[in-house]
Amino acid sequence: MAEARHEIRFLLNGEDVALRDVKPDATLLDWLRLHRSLKGTKEGCAEGDCGACTVLVGRLGMDGLVYEGVNACIRFLGSLDGCHIVTIEHLAGADGTLHPVQQAMVDFHGSQCGFCTPGFIMSLYALWMREAKPSDKTIETALQGNLCRCTGYEPIMKAARAVSSYGAAGSDPLVVERAAVTARLQELRDGRRVEIGEGSERLIVPASLDDFAAVLEAEPKATVVAGSTDVGLWVTKQMRAIAPAVFICGLTELQQISEEDGVITIGAGVSYTDGRDFLASRIPAFGRLIDRIGGGQVRNMGTIGGNIANGSPIGDTPPPLIALDARLTLRKGNERRTIALEDFFIAYGKQDRQPGEFVEAVHVPVPASGEKFAVYKITKRRDEDITATLGAFRMTLAADGTVADVRIAYGGMAATPKRARAVEAVLIGAPWTEKTVEAAMAAYAEDFSPLTDMRASAAYRALAAKNLLLRFYLETSGASGPVGVSRYDEVA
Ligand SMILES: Cc1cc2nc3c(=O)[nH]c(=O)nc-3n(C[C@H](O)[C@H](O)[C@H](O)COP(=O)(O)OP(=O)(O)OC[C@H]3O[C@@H](n4cnc5c(N)ncnc54)[C@H](O)[C@@H]3O)c2cc1C
Ligand code: FES
Ligand code: FES
Repeated sequence: MAEARHEIRFLLNGEDVALRDVKPDATLLDWLRLHRSLKGTKEGCAEGDCGACTVLVGRLGMDGLVYEGVNACIRFLGSLDGCHIVTIEHLAGADGTLHPVQQAMVDFHGSQCGFCTPGFIMSLYALWMREAKPSDKTIETALQGNLCRCTGYEPIMKAARAVSSYGAAGSDPLVVERAAVTARLQELRDGRRVEIGEGSERLIVPASLDDFAAVLEAEPKATVVAGSTDVGLWVTKQMRAIAPAVFICGLTELQQISEEDGVITIGAGVSYTDGRDFLASRIPAFGRLIDRIGGGQVRNMGTIGGNIANGSPIGDTPPPLIALDARLTLRKGNERRTIALEDFFIAYGKQDRQPGEFVEAVHVPVPASGEKFAVYKITKRRDEDITATLGAFRMTLAADGTVADVRIAYGGMAATPKRARAVEAVLIGAPWTEKTVEAAMAAYAEDFSPLTDMRASAAYRALAAKNLLLRFYLETSGASGPVGVSRYDEVA
């Protein structure tokens, strides 16, 4: 293998940057503000919630160069090798002419407090480049990760609706210079591993998937960092040390998603954004769930593999994946093993992952003909909120209307994502009727003893979990269900 490189290289706005002294836990936001005096990018929450720190990161992904809004507060410098970082300072022309998005925000009074404004503009900039005339729903989705807590969103919405009349994205420098930036990023990615620092200051960017396997086998205590939407908060909120840190978000080999013989294989590095349309086209309820994970910036960075590996009992993807009977491929060096996903979660904070082993892919059977599948996420706020309770249901009815097969899994109800096996046992073989559902609701106490925390009380969780089964029944039996974004899928 080629000799390791000892510097991180990227483009910042119009400039080439090479950094030799990079700490594993150095955030992009601190570096921009403290080392480059680019103070247009703000720090609000430092945990990926408010969007005040939004910048664009251009990366060479599976489909070429893409620019995405990310939270600079929880994005580590070490993850940016071979990327193009675009900050608010890059938008206005050299003569001071405001960018169309900036001008629209001025004209429609969208800059209210001013503090969050650069973050809103960066998110709208990314949207404007994707879509000339976005619908209100698309604008709202694009702004899920940008919080206004002072005045209101309407002036910002008005500005967003008007942007296309201020100029076409085709003449934007990021579009005009696309080929040149792509070529430059390809040069920066020289296929070499990056290694910087020693001991508590050590960071590694593997050159390839095989190299990642070798690095982790040699450094089994290293922190794997994918999208850093969990690990970032360990640093900014818990002051935890993460060295040696291994940054894997540039490994395109882990970013493949494909389907073969009715099974979708999702590489561990597939971000929510990259996996969303593929998954939504096969399992629509899964697509709708992804739309409610974090905001756009978190979905651009966060990965499904990271959600699984993190092992949180309130991670959103494990329950539906368990209900779908997904399997997980783990790899250590060149050895692989594949296990049922539900067996991966052993206890709170404990997963079936050996030292030096990593999550390589998750394999998800697509619901077959006649199967019904639903995911219901309960949060205090509809957008950008963490689950209080989440239930996932997959069921097959026999011709006589009895339950032939059912898998039910929950998040937020136990120390791990967990199946409701006692509930399933009541349902299997019984007629799919309200009476059966009532009997099954009584079995929840055997499966779960939820906790009280800031998101919900134990009693609320216990009641809500049961009612999700009732909701699934009402929706799948043709009775009119409650109004909500998550409807069940029925495969014809
Ligand atoms: C504002 C905000 C909102 C959020 N909202 C939600 C939400 O609605 N629902 C939800 O479920 N989560 C949410 N999260 C949490 C987070 O976004 C997800 O858990 C995400 O999927 C983590 O993926 P990542 O790639 O960022 O993981 P990272 O933070 O990079 O890593 C997470 C953990 O997984 C390990 N890891 C990552 N990849 C691998 C691998 N391939 N092999 C072995 N270990 C690995 C890391 O070492 C670490 O332990 C939110 C986070 C933020 C900041
Ligand atoms: S500072 Fe709030 S999302 Fe980064
Ligand atoms: S405009 Fe900044 S918080 Fe409302």
